[in-house]
Amino acid sequence: MDQVNGSVVTEFVLLGLAHSLEMQFFLFLFFSLFYVGIILGNLFIVFTIIFDSHLHFPMYILLANLSLIDLGLSSTTVPRMVFDLFSDCKIISFHNCMIQIFFIHVMGGTEMVLLIAMAYDRYTAICKPLHYLTIMNPKVCMLLVVVAWIIGVIHAVSQFVFVINLPFCGPNNVGSFYCDFPRVIKLACMDTYKLEFVVTANSGFISMGTFFFLIASYIFILVTVKKHSSEDLSKAFFTLSAHITVVVLFFAPCMFLYVWPFPTKSLDNFFSIVDFVVTPVLNPAIYTLRNRDMKVAMRRLIRQVVSSREMI
Ligand SMILES: *[C@@H]1O[C@H](CO)[C@@H](O)[C@H](O)[C@H]1NC(C)=O
Repeated sequence: MDQVNGSVVTEFVLLGLAHSLEMQFFLFLFFSLFYVGIILGNLFIVFTIIFDSHLHFPMYILLANLSLIDLGLSSTTVPRMVFDLFSDCKIISFHNCMIQIFFIHVMGGTEMVLLIAMAYDRYTAICKPLHYLTIMNPKVCMLLVVVAWIIGVIHAVSQFVFVINLPFCGPNNVGSFYCDFPRVIKLACMDTYKLEFVVTANSGFISMGTFFFLIASYIFILVTVKKHSSEDLSKAFFTLSAHITVVVLFFAPCMFLYVWPFPTKSLDNFFSIVDFVVTPVLNPAIYTLRNRDMKVAMRRLIRQVVSSREMI
């Protein structure tokens, strides 16, 4: 096992999701439709928010950023997965595998911080309404977004430095349809026990911590509202339940993938698909279908586009 100075493995083999032709077609349709939905839905949100000055509030600016990241996060895996469905040898080069891991964690880490920023935004709006516009001014909003990206990059780099130099000398079957730390580390020809702990701590405990922190913040906000009036409570609950749904949908798979000590292939795949395919399409749905201002703005945008077409 110790004969290696550097990596000799130059490519990894990914897992095929479908074993029969019917299944290939079914998954192809399913994932393509979802991916198109992810692109259109999230871009629609971004454009609606950018072009509608009624929506130039921190909550929506952060939402637009979240949409972009969702789009990015699913683009790290879904196109490749769809493409791989019909290819016989699902091989990914060492480089591409590393690039994929890196971007998954940059986007994932950024999304995590952004969800905290969105909770903070709701906390300020609901619990300190009089100071909302001074606390969440454009500068602070910008700062939150920049910090989210910086933390995302730090989160990815801090695990990546350990993995990029690992000796890979033999087994190269990732056992999943995309590359990620837990699976790839297991293929290294050395004792990776400590490293697995680094990843569990960095990706797993952080996502677990963030999850409980967010849920606690939302409960705190609801309790604060409840003290004031019950009418506000139902309104706040309506807004916050959208946020809470997104938080649960995003973090449950993360926690399973990085913390759960007994991974099983089928559950792993299921949870990965939830995070890369289902959450990114549900986010736009949840935020837009439940938000009156968004719906109004989207109708306005569509009307503008249609009427500008008629003029041409
Ligand atoms: C993301 O946030 C920044 C900082 O507030 C903002 O300037 C930018 O417009 C947002 N991005 C989108 C796509 O709205």
